[in-house]
This record gives sequence, structure tokens and C-alpha cells, in this order.
Amino acid sequence: MTIDISPLSLESPTSIEEWVHVSEAVRRYDLPIIPSTTRSDIERALRHPWPGLTELGFVVRADGEPVGQFGLAFQQDDAATAALELGVSPNHRRRGFGRQILRAVEDVAHGHGCRTLSSNALFDHPGVSVGSGGASVFARAAGYSTDGPDLNYRLHTEGTDERRLDLALERGWAKATGYRVVSWIDRTPKELVDSVAYLNGQDTDDYHETERLTQERGRTVYHTGMVHEGSDRLVSWTSLSYQSEHPWHGSQHNTIVDPPHRGRRLGLVSKVENLRFFLRHQPQVTACDTLNAADNHPIISINEELGFVPTHAFTSWSRTYY
Ligand SMILES: CC(C)(COP(=O)(O)OP(=O)(O)OC[C@H]1O[C@@H](n2cnc3c(N)ncnc32)[C@H](O)[C@@H]1OP(=O)(O)O)[C@@H](O)C(=O)NCCC(=O)NCCS
Repeated sequence: MTIDISPLSLESPTSIEEWVHVSEAVRRYDLPIIPSTTRSDIERALRHPWPGLTELGFVVRADGEPVGQFGLAFQQDDAATAALELGVSPNHRRRGFGRQILRAVEDVAHGHGCRTLSSNALFDHPGVSVGSGGASVFARAAGYSTDGPDLNYRLHTEGTDERRLDLALERGWAKATGYRVVSWIDRTPKELVDSVAYLNGQDTDDYHETERLTQERGRTVYHTGMVHEGSDRLVSWTSLSYQSEHPWHGSQHNTIVDPPHRGRRLGLVSKVENLRFFLRHQPQVTACDTLNAADNHPIISINEELGFVPTHAFTSWSRTYY
């Protein structure tokens, strides 16, 4: 059966409806524990694009019925590598649609000058099997090769183990003398914004824009950092975000400690303080997720100390075409 593709756009409410329909079918089948994709998620993302990034989405139909989707994202000043998202509705799998969609992806990608495509797929990792062999076989059969996996860790926050968090904080402060904690919601206070931008690898104007777009995209972000009292600079920063459409769920963002200040348990203290700060404001949240490279032992050991447990793994697949 032949497929046709049409772009996801605000001008076409049908494309948004079909994108959500396919995304939700894929999520419910492959990874039902993650938050759903909603119409307003997609509309906000289309209305508020990240600066410097081109993000394209396409709905794939066969016989007029939506059977799949794909998305491509690449930097406007360097399109060589593109991130690919590809899904086929569960009731249309193993009929060659994935292979056909990949050919359409390649046409679009090459038309924009993308040479390398990279994509994430669920991956069976020791202890976190989600019965996901198909995507890996598909990617390998299509000539893609894999990098190391990323692990998703989840903290079940109902009845948070306060004693465990107290112990972690006690251990943290034993080494973190000479620092103080600061917490804030959404916009970073003026006196801290240069340090946060630096820790995030951005200049201050770009960081302001990142914050503005994150808010426009419907996220409320809770931040905690540690200020080095000797220099009065923020040297550690972590954040957790919340979206009102998924009141049960928190998403961990970056945790960064400036290299000269590592080894003093600032990451541990920041994360415990931020988790408590977050849950004080959003006590109805029952689960927080964080995704880390499986070999990022420092952050994984902090997460485990707080009680996060692994739930599933992704591995990144990529192929360079020419
Ligand atoms: C991966 C995915 C896109 C495959 O879509 P599909 O339409 O079922 O794939 P195709 O029918 O075109 O399969 C092409 C080849 O992939 C392999 N394959 C696909 N699914 C497989 C499965 N469940 N088990 C084993 N091999 C599988 C086979 O080699 C197949 O060729 P064959 O049917 O001649 O044996 C689909 O399972 C999906 O949407 N998964 C969730 C999202 C995802 O992980 N995307 C992949 C990112 S790399």
C-alpha cells in the first residue's frame, strides 16, 4: 500500500489531530507510563519554536487513514545532523510502513542537507525490559548503528521517604560547607541569571529566550542552586518542571555543577532541596522522571540515593548517508 505524507502545521487542525492520534496510539502501546501527548502540547510547540532550530513533523496516511508519523529537528546553521522521531501505529505494524516512511524521511532530510540521522528507540536493558525488541531490529535492518543506552529513572513521590532525603542531605552538607541554597520558580532572579546561563552553556540573552519559550510551552520550572559564599556566584543548578495538563508528573531537567566545585556533594544537596521545593508547590505529583546516559555514574548514584528506580531504557541509533 502506498503512503502519502502531509506536514504538521497550525493551518491544518486535521494534521494536529492525526499527529496526536498516532502519538497516543504509539505511547499507549510502547510506553504507557509516560505523560500523554495533547493537542495543546503540539499547538504550543508549533507556535513557539526554539530559536535556531528547525522542527518538521509529518503525518503519514495510507488509504486516507493515519498510520504513522515522523519528525525531524536540525540546527538552522548546521543541518548536517538531524534528530529523527518515527512511529507506526501499533495496528499497522509489520506491513512495511516503517520501511516506506524511512524512505520519505530520507527524501525530506536530504532535501534540507541533513547527512546523519539519529533516533531514539526503546531498548531492553538489564533489569528494565519493556518488550521493545522490534524497534532495534528495525533500526539495524535499516542500516543504523547504536550508541550507548540512556536510562529513565522514576521517583514515586507518594509518601516520599523523608528520612531517606534527610540522610542524603546530611551526607551532602558534610562536604558542602561554604555554600548556601537558593530556590526560585520560572524566571531566574537578575543577580543569578548570568551564572545560570553560563552553567547551561548559553549567553544570557539566549538563556532568557529559553526561559520565555519554556513558559510559553506551558511548563512551570522549579529551580534550586548553590551559591559559593566566597565568590557569591551560583555554581550548581538543577530544575524540575511541571505542566498543568499532567498534574501527576514532574520532569527533571539538567543538573550541573561547575567543574571547580565538583566533589563537594553540591549536586546531591541541590537535588534534594529542589525535590522538596517542587513537592511543596505541587504536592499532587506522584512521579518524577529523569533520563541519564547509562554510564553517567555520578548523577545515577545521586538519583538512586534519593530513591529513583530505573523504568526503561532508550538507545540512540544513527546512520550517516553520504
Ligand atoms: C519501529 C517501527 C517504526 C517499525 O514499524 P513497522 O511499520 O512495523 O516496520 P516494517 O514493517 O517496515 O518493518 C521493517 C523491518 O523491521 C524489522 N522489524 C520491525 N518490527 C519488528 C519486530 N517487532 N520484531 C522483529 N523485527 C521487526 C523487520 O526486519 C522488518 O522487516 P520484515 O517485516 O521483512 O521482517 C514501529 O515498531 C514503531 O513505531 N515503534 C515505536 C517507535 C520507535 O521505536 N521508532 C523507531 C525509532 S528508530
